[in-house]
Amino acid sequence: MRLYIDSANLEQIAYLNTYFPIDGVTTNPSIIVKEKKPYLELLQEIKGIIGEEKELFVQLIGDTAEEMLEEAEYINRVIAGKVVVKIPVTTEGIKAIKLISVYKIPILATTIYTSMQALTASMAGADYVAPYVNRIDNLTGNGVNVVHEISKLFSAYNCKTKILAASFKNVQQVHDVCLAGAHSVTVSAELIQKFIDFPSTNKDVTVFKKQWQDLYGIDRKSL
Ligand code: E4P
Repeated sequence: MRLYIDSANLEQIAYLNTYFPIDGVTTNPSIIVKEKKPYLELLQEIKGIIGEEKELFVQLIGDTAEEMLEEAEYINRVIAGKVVVKIPVTTEGIKAIKLISVYKIPILATTIYTSMQALTASMAGADYVAPYVNRIDNLTGNGVNVVHEISKLFSAYNCKTKILAASFKNVQQVHDVCLAGAHSVTVSAELIQKFIDFPSTNKDVTVFKKQWQDLYGIDRKSL
Protein backbone atom coordinates (compact mmCIF):
# COMPACT_ATOMS: atom_id res chain seq x y z
CA MET A 1 0.00 0.00 0.00
CA ARG A 2 1.24 3.45 -0.89
CA LEU A 3 -0.06 6.56 0.83
CA TYR A 4 -0.21 10.03 -0.74
CA ILE A 5 -1.20 13.39 0.73
CA ASP A 6 -3.97 15.09 -1.24
CA SER A 7 -2.96 18.68 -0.46
CA ALA A 8 -0.72 21.53 -1.59
CA ASN A 9 -0.49 23.10 1.85
CA LEU A 10 3.17 23.30 2.80
CA GLU A 11 2.64 23.10 6.58
CA GLN A 12 0.41 20.03 6.26
CA ILE A 13 2.85 18.35 3.88
CA ALA A 14 5.88 19.07 6.09
CA TYR A 15 4.08 17.74 9.17
CA LEU A 16 2.71 14.57 7.55
CA ASN A 17 5.95 13.84 5.70
CA THR A 18 7.75 13.86 9.06
CA TYR A 19 5.25 11.83 11.07
CA PHE A 20 3.52 9.45 8.62
CA PRO A 21 4.68 6.87 6.03
CA ILE A 22 4.10 9.11 3.02
CA ASP A 23 5.01 8.18 -0.57
CA GLY A 24 4.25 11.52 -2.22
CA VAL A 25 1.78 14.33 -2.80
CA THR A 26 -1.16 14.60 -5.20
CA THR A 27 -2.58 17.92 -6.32
CA ASN A 28 -5.35 19.09 -8.60
CA PRO A 29 -6.29 22.61 -9.78
CA SER A 30 -8.79 23.12 -6.89
CA ILE A 31 -6.14 22.11 -4.34
CA ILE A 32 -3.48 24.39 -5.89
CA VAL A 33 -5.64 27.53 -6.14
CA LYS A 34 -6.55 27.26 -2.42
CA GLU A 35 -2.94 28.17 -1.55
CA LYS A 36 -3.07 31.46 -3.54
CA LYS A 37 0.61 31.29 -4.57
CA PRO A 38 2.42 31.19 -7.95
CA TYR A 39 1.80 27.56 -8.88
CA LEU A 40 5.27 26.63 -10.12
CA GLU A 41 6.94 28.03 -7.03
CA LEU A 42 4.45 26.13 -4.87
CA LEU A 43 5.08 22.84 -6.69
CA GLN A 44 8.84 23.31 -6.36
CA GLU A 45 8.47 24.04 -2.65
CA ILE A 46 6.43 20.85 -2.19
CA LYS A 47 9.15 18.89 -3.99
CA GLY A 48 11.71 20.54 -1.72
CA ILE A 49 9.87 19.14 1.31
CA ILE A 50 9.23 15.60 0.07
CA GLY A 51 12.49 15.22 -1.88
CA GLU A 52 13.22 14.11 -5.42
CA GLU A 53 12.46 10.42 -4.82
CA LYS A 54 8.85 10.84 -3.68
CA GLU A 55 6.27 11.43 -6.39
CA LEU A 56 4.52 14.75 -6.95
CA PHE A 57 1.32 14.53 -9.03
CA VAL A 58 0.43 17.58 -11.13
CA GLN A 59 -2.76 17.86 -13.18
CA LEU A 60 -2.57 19.11 -16.78
CA ILE A 61 -5.10 21.76 -17.79
CA GLY A 62 -4.65 21.91 -21.59
CA ASP A 63 -7.77 21.45 -23.74
CA THR A 64 -6.16 19.39 -26.48
CA ALA A 65 -3.85 16.38 -26.35
CA GLU A 66 -1.11 18.42 -28.02
CA GLU A 67 -1.41 21.19 -25.40
CA MET A 68 -1.26 18.57 -22.65
CA LEU A 69 1.87 17.04 -24.18
CA GLU A 70 3.55 20.45 -24.25
CA GLU A 71 2.54 21.06 -20.64
CA ALA A 72 3.71 17.59 -19.53
CA GLU A 73 7.13 18.13 -21.10
CA TYR A 74 7.40 21.55 -19.46
CA ILE A 75 6.45 20.30 -15.98
CA ASN A 76 8.79 17.37 -16.33
CA ARG A 77 11.61 19.72 -17.28
CA VAL A 78 11.18 22.42 -14.62
CA ILE A 79 10.40 20.27 -11.58
CA ALA A 80 13.35 18.18 -10.45
CA GLY A 81 12.82 14.55 -9.44
CA LYS A 82 9.81 12.28 -9.73
CA VAL A 83 6.73 13.94 -11.20
CA VAL A 84 3.55 12.24 -12.43
CA VAL A 85 1.18 14.13 -14.72
CA LYS A 86 -2.54 13.78 -14.08
CA ILE A 87 -4.79 13.63 -17.12
CA PRO A 88 -8.62 13.60 -16.94
CA VAL A 89 -10.24 10.69 -18.83
CA THR A 90 -12.03 12.82 -21.43
CA THR A 91 -11.74 11.82 -25.11
CA GLU A 92 -8.93 14.35 -25.55
CA GLY A 93 -7.38 13.07 -22.32
CA ILE A 94 -7.24 9.49 -23.60
CA LYS A 95 -5.50 10.75 -26.74
CA ALA A 96 -3.07 12.67 -24.51
CA ILE A 97 -2.35 9.53 -22.46
CA LYS A 98 -1.48 7.66 -25.67
CA LEU A 99 0.77 10.52 -26.83
CA ILE A 100 2.52 11.29 -23.54
CA SER A 101 3.16 7.66 -22.56
CA VAL A 102 5.41 7.36 -25.63
CA TYR A 103 7.71 9.94 -23.96
CA LYS A 104 7.92 7.79 -20.81
CA ILE A 105 6.50 10.56 -18.63
CA PRO A 106 4.57 8.84 -15.79
CA ILE A 107 0.79 9.35 -16.07
CA LEU A 108 -2.15 9.15 -13.69
CA ALA A 109 -5.57 9.03 -15.37
CA THR A 110 -7.89 11.05 -13.17
CA THR A 111 -11.59 11.92 -12.63
CA ILE A 112 -12.57 8.26 -12.95
CA TYR A 113 -16.17 7.29 -12.19
CA THR A 114 -16.47 3.90 -13.96
CA SER A 115 -14.37 0.78 -14.36
CA MET A 116 -14.54 1.06 -18.17
CA GLN A 117 -12.92 4.51 -17.97
CA ALA A 118 -10.14 2.94 -15.89
CA LEU A 119 -9.67 0.02 -18.29
CA THR A 120 -9.56 2.35 -21.31
CA ALA A 121 -7.00 4.62 -19.59
CA SER A 122 -4.88 1.60 -18.74
CA MET A 123 -4.99 0.36 -22.34
CA ALA A 124 -4.00 3.87 -23.50
CA GLY A 125 -0.85 3.70 -21.34
CA ALA A 126 -1.69 5.21 -17.91
CA ASP A 127 0.57 4.14 -15.04
CA TYR A 128 -2.09 4.94 -12.43
CA VAL A 129 -5.87 5.37 -12.41
CA ALA A 130 -7.67 7.48 -9.79
CA PRO A 131 -11.28 6.44 -9.13
CA TYR A 132 -13.14 9.20 -7.25
CA VAL A 133 -14.66 7.13 -4.45
CA ASN A 134 -16.66 9.71 -2.50
CA ARG A 135 -17.79 11.60 -5.62
CA ILE A 136 -19.12 8.27 -6.99
CA ASP A 137 -20.95 7.65 -3.70
CA ASN A 138 -22.45 11.14 -3.92
CA LEU A 139 -23.96 10.20 -7.29
CA THR A 140 -25.72 7.26 -5.59
CA GLY A 141 -23.10 4.93 -7.04
CA ASN A 142 -20.74 2.78 -4.98
CA GLY A 143 -17.13 3.98 -5.07
CA VAL A 144 -15.74 0.93 -3.29
CA ASN A 145 -17.45 -1.39 -5.82
CA VAL A 146 -15.93 0.57 -8.70
CA VAL A 147 -12.47 0.06 -7.17
CA HIS A 148 -13.24 -3.66 -6.77
CA GLU A 149 -14.35 -3.92 -10.42
CA ILE A 150 -11.22 -2.10 -11.64
CA SER A 151 -9.08 -4.44 -9.58
CA LYS A 152 -10.79 -7.51 -11.12
CA LEU A 153 -10.45 -6.16 -14.66
CA PHE A 154 -6.78 -5.27 -14.17
CA SER A 155 -6.07 -8.78 -12.84
CA ALA A 156 -8.04 -10.43 -15.67
CA TYR A 157 -6.09 -8.54 -18.33
CA ASN A 158 -2.73 -8.45 -16.53
CA CYS A 159 -2.69 -4.64 -16.59
CA LYS A 160 0.40 -3.07 -15.01
CA THR A 161 -1.58 0.09 -14.18
CA LYS A 162 -1.93 0.76 -10.45
CA ILE A 163 -5.12 1.86 -8.72
CA LEU A 164 -4.58 5.06 -6.74
CA ALA A 165 -7.99 5.60 -5.16
CA ALA A 166 -8.95 9.23 -4.47
CA SER A 167 -11.74 11.39 -3.06
CA PHE A 168 -12.56 10.22 0.46
CA LYS A 169 -14.84 11.59 3.14
CA ASN A 170 -14.12 9.10 5.89
CA VAL A 171 -11.63 6.46 7.06
CA GLN A 172 -14.11 3.63 6.41
CA GLN A 173 -14.04 4.37 2.66
CA VAL A 174 -10.22 4.26 2.71
CA HIS A 175 -10.26 0.97 4.63
CA ASP A 176 -12.79 -0.55 2.21
CA VAL A 177 -10.88 0.39 -0.97
CA CYS A 178 -7.72 -1.13 0.54
CA LEU A 179 -9.63 -4.42 0.90
CA ALA A 180 -11.16 -3.98 -2.58
CA GLY A 181 -7.73 -4.03 -4.27
CA ALA A 182 -6.46 -0.42 -4.37
CA HIS A 183 -2.65 -0.34 -4.59
CA SER A 184 -2.54 3.14 -3.10
CA VAL A 185 -4.72 5.94 -1.78
CA THR A 186 -4.50 9.72 -1.70
CA VAL A 187 -6.08 11.27 1.34
CA SER A 188 -6.54 14.75 2.86
CA ALA A 189 -4.31 15.75 5.77
CA GLU A 190 -7.26 15.71 8.18
CA LEU A 191 -8.23 12.16 7.21
CA ILE A 192 -4.66 10.78 7.40
CA GLN A 193 -4.50 12.00 10.99
CA LYS A 194 -7.78 10.16 11.67
CA PHE A 195 -6.20 6.84 10.56
CA ILE A 196 -4.64 6.58 14.00
CA ASP A 197 -6.62 8.91 16.27
CA PHE A 198 -8.52 6.74 18.72
CA PRO A 199 -9.48 7.99 22.19
CA SER A 200 -8.82 4.63 23.90
CA THR A 201 -5.21 4.62 22.67
CA ASN A 202 -4.49 8.00 24.23
CA LYS A 203 -6.31 6.99 27.42
CA ASP A 204 -4.25 3.78 27.70
CA VAL A 205 -0.99 5.69 27.20
CA THR A 206 -1.96 8.15 29.96
CA VAL A 207 -2.71 5.30 32.38
CA PHE A 208 0.56 3.45 31.55
CA LYS A 209 2.53 6.63 32.14
CA LYS A 210 0.78 7.46 35.40
CA GLN A 211 1.32 3.96 36.83
CA TRP A 212 5.00 4.07 35.85
CA GLN A 213 5.56 7.49 37.36
CA ASP A 214 3.78 6.58 40.59
CA LEU A 215 6.46 3.97 41.25
CA TYR A 216 9.57 5.23 39.46
CA GLY A 217 9.04 8.99 39.22
CA ILE A 218 9.71 10.93 36.04
CA ASP A 219 13.49 10.81 35.73
CA ARG A 220 14.12 7.94 33.26
CA LYS A 221 17.92 8.33 33.54
CA SER A 222 17.87 7.15 37.13
CA LEU A 223 16.16 3.82 36.27
C1 E4P B 1 -7.15 13.48 -6.24
O1 E4P B 1 -6.26 13.48 -6.98
C2 E4P B 1 -8.47 14.06 -6.49
O2 E4P B 1 -8.33 15.19 -7.26
C3 E4P B 1 -9.13 14.34 -5.18
O3 E4P B 1 -8.92 13.25 -4.31
C4 E4P B 1 -10.59 14.69 -5.26
O4 E4P B 1 -11.08 14.71 -3.95
P1 E4P B 1 -12.42 15.46 -3.53
O5 E4P B 1 -13.57 14.71 -4.17
O6 E4P B 1 -12.46 15.36 -2.06
O7 E4P B 1 -12.32 16.86 -4.05
